[in-house]
Amino acid sequence: MSITTQSDLFAPLHLPGGQIIKNRIAKAAMEENMADTVHLPDAALRQLYRAWAEGGAGLLLTGNVMVAPDAVTGPAGVILDKSQPLEPFREWARAGRANGARLWMQINHPGRQVYAATNPQAIAPSAVPVAIEGYAHLLAKPRAMNEDDIAEVIRRFAETAALAEQAGFDGVQIHAAHGYLLSQFLSPLTNQREDQWGGSLENRARLLVEIVRTVRARVAPGFGVGVKLNSSDFQKGGFEAADAVQVVRLLNPLAVDLVELSGGSYESPAMHGRPERESTRTREAYFVDFARDVVAVAEMPIMVTGGIRRRATAEAAFAPEDGRPGVAMVGIGQALAYAPDLPNRWEQAEAAVEVPQVRWKNRAVSGLANMALTKLQLRRLGKGKAPKANAWASLVLIRDRLRMSRRSRRYRDWLQRRVVA
Ligand SMILES: Cc1cc2nc3c(=O)[nH]c(=O)nc-3n(C[C@H](O)[C@H](O)[C@H](O)COP(=O)(O)O)c2cc1C
Repeated sequence: MSITTQSDLFAPLHLPGGQIIKNRIAKAAMEENMADTVHLPDAALRQLYRAWAEGGAGLLLTGNVMVAPDAVTGPAGVILDKSQPLEPFREWARAGRANGARLWMQINHPGRQVYAATNPQAIAPSAVPVAIEGYAHLLAKPRAMNEDDIAEVIRRFAETAALAEQAGFDGVQIHAAHGYLLSQFLSPLTNQREDQWGGSLENRARLLVEIVRTVRARVAPGFGVGVKLNSSDFQKGGFEAADAVQVVRLLNPLAVDLVELSGGSYESPAMHGRPERESTRTREAYFVDFARDVVAVAEMPIMVTGGIRRRATAEAAFAPEDGRPGVAMVGIGQALAYAPDLPNRWEQAEAAVEVPQVRWKNRAVSGLANMALTKLQLRRLGKGKAPKANAWASLVLIRDRLRMSRRSRRYRDWLQRRVVA
């Protein structure tokens, strides 16, 4: 199949399964931590997604929705399995599909990237804990998964996808990036198994392939099935660009509608930007260069996310370079938190958006502050308020930490009540 290399950001994209996305701009997944007390979407999430839909993006990817209630990336996240009522998801889908936008649910299992305070019983391909200097104790120490655990994870991804379809979502995106469970299976650093799920790249990709296959078999052909993949872990001995190319080859025959390329993990958070010393062009759209090599072998459209703030940067990602093709779609995260109507504005002209970046000495704390600032905008949008780019980072970070610790306690109590019931 040949891939459209239409450089117009506002040309529709026809997906292999038949779905049409009205333009080439996707709102990338951003975990909101805004679910209600029982981990369901409520009025605030509906309002937030309505704002993005009305802002003009063709595709909205939700923040990661958990497939297992006892394994969450953070507190107050949305959880969807058969124990949850579907009506709140139907209402969420109606809001996010306003203005002709397509709404896909990103579905995820965090594996070992869970906090010890919330999920002490973490599972992972191998018993390799997360290593972040000074912070490792905050994360759970995982045990290696057995065959039953693996079968259960496959079943859960398929169940959540089927429920998303029933609720009226247009598709799902399977999260296999950023160091979460499927990304842990892909990386030789975290997957040290010697069975059919580890060793060769084909074995390490087996869980992802099985999940894609099982999900595809459970949903209608026109329902979108996408994958978010790391172009690299940015760690020595980890999953590399050449591996990403091979994984896309493995996905080629599986009727995948869209592959999004990102990169990094908690240990090496490349998804949140390259070092400041790099050129503006490298810092903006930092995965575009990798993406071109993937586009060359992919039979599905490729989307690239990371650092896009300007229309010119987005457009450059579509154009061929050095004889290598451009991507079919761009994903935008933080810029859409600060300017949800950026696609509408870009349709008229180039428009600037201010995305404040905290650059304190401690990179890990700066990262948390940037996340907290972005999440503040999501909550403001959820209340129908305008974004606030000039919020005081230190204060926002402190408030965010307090809020997260209250929500963690609430989550633990909720989980405990479920276990007892
Ligand atoms: C607050 C916040 C939450 C995020 N949550 C997710 C998530 O749930 N799933 C995911 O795949 N990526 C998540 N990301 C990463 C974004 O999708 C994206 O890859 C990253 O922000 C880089 O793109 P940007 O420069 O356009 O923001 C998150 C990013 C931010 C800032």
